[in-house]
Amino acid sequence: MKTESEASALQQELLATSRELFPGGSSGLWSLPEEYQIVVTHGRGGHVWDMTGREYIDCILGSGPVLIGHAHPAVVAAVQAQVEKGATYFLLNEPGIRLAEQVVDAVPCAEQIRFVSTGTEATFYTIRIARAYTGRNKVLKFEGALHGGNDYATMSTVPPRISDYPHGIPDSSGIPQQVQDQVLVSEFNNLALTRDLAHQHGDDLAAIIMEPLQRALNPEPGFLAAVRDLAHEVGALLIFDEIVTGFRLAWGGAQEYYGVQPDLAVLGKALGGSYPQAAVAGPAAIMEVVSSAIRGTPRYVWMGGTFSGNPLSAVAGLATLGVLQEEGSFARLHAIGDEVRGGLAALGREFGEPLQAIGAGPLLQVFFGEGELRSYRDCLQTDNTKRIAFARELLRAGILTNPGEKLYFSLAHTDEDVGEILDRAREALKTVQERAEDS
Ligand SMILES: Cc1ncc(COP(=O)(O)O)c(C=O)c1O
Repeated sequence: MKTESEASALQQELLATSRELFPGGSSGLWSLPEEYQIVVTHGRGGHVWDMTGREYIDCILGSGPVLIGHAHPAVVAAVQAQVEKGATYFLLNEPGIRLAEQVVDAVPCAEQIRFVSTGTEATFYTIRIARAYTGRNKVLKFEGALHGGNDYATMSTVPPRISDYPHGIPDSSGIPQQVQDQVLVSEFNNLALTRDLAHQHGDDLAAIIMEPLQRALNPEPGFLAAVRDLAHEVGALLIFDEIVTGFRLAWGGAQEYYGVQPDLAVLGKALGGSYPQAAVAGPAAIMEVVSSAIRGTPRYVWMGGTFSGNPLSAVAGLATLGVLQEEGSFARLHAIGDEVRGGLAALGREFGEPLQAIGAGPLLQVFFGEGELRSYRDCLQTDNTKRIAFARELLRAGILTNPGEKLYFSLAHTDEDVGEILDRAREALKTVQERAEDS
């Protein structure tokens, strides 16, 4: 058993090693701000622990997949049982087939599905499917929407300044100009602009891809249905990126929650029950372009990878969906989100801060600003310094969050956790306000 100072020294040593081994010290796309960096030892329920033994309330949740909590006994048992039988086969297996059945049962637009491992692959392939199916090239996305890391998706995801519609701002170097030219960028909740762009480019528009709940921005009543009608009017497909919203806002995802059915849906995160899993789902008439039966014909779309439909992610996904299907699961997820949103808004009023806690279900994002938040550019107008300072104070107080981004909640977060989050948010807001007054 290590003493506290030995454990702390070991964590510091590992962090130093990570800075040497990983570009920017990060094993992935992102890492915590330097002074709050930790090495995680384990997670259970809605909490994780670092090497010093410090416990955190986890509102990152693996960036979303951990919807029923870390190491849920049902998921652990399912994975343990499957591990004994082998982790991947590159062949049909019962867990993969059963999970596909569940998706088709749950998701209104799903008749058939194809698994991949990440959301980035899934959005890339769904755009390819739409282009193959329609015989067109362009894709329209919304400024501030995140669709992963492929070349089409990384346009105006987090632009530092507003885009010159319909030209996007690449989020990454290395995207060929020819690809950039195929991506049209519009403003979320701006139907007039979206209509103009769709009409101007209609004869070459393959798809409109959108997050139905864009990050934490709610669609205005009628917007999603109008975009679907518009896509169909110009002969394009509507793709809902439900990597985040799928199995989270409702059993049938955002399409059930908002009552608008897209042509294709992209799923991930919760679908793999904390293990790598994503998928594209849609009607058989569209999905058949990925069928190996037509390989070699001009319509064939290459889609899939080594771990597509692997049984380990499938059993974890099935166990997670089993828990989500229990009576009251979605009501509880919504109740947690509503309570924290309501509590944060009340704190804002109490402190005289223009704090807006937006989102839906167990997803929430905090902004500081008076104006109505309808789109990414509205969010750009808010006080970013305060937003980040508030999130960093939460981190200091042991609430794990990606500063300034969405907070995720799980079925494993308890009422006590919600109370703690709000207590610590009160302290955080007080500190942020005092600092702003001092400067
Ligand atoms: C809406 C949405 N789409 C796509 C992705 C990309 O998924 P992945 O990180 O699995 O590639 C993400 C990731 O956060 C996402 O939030």
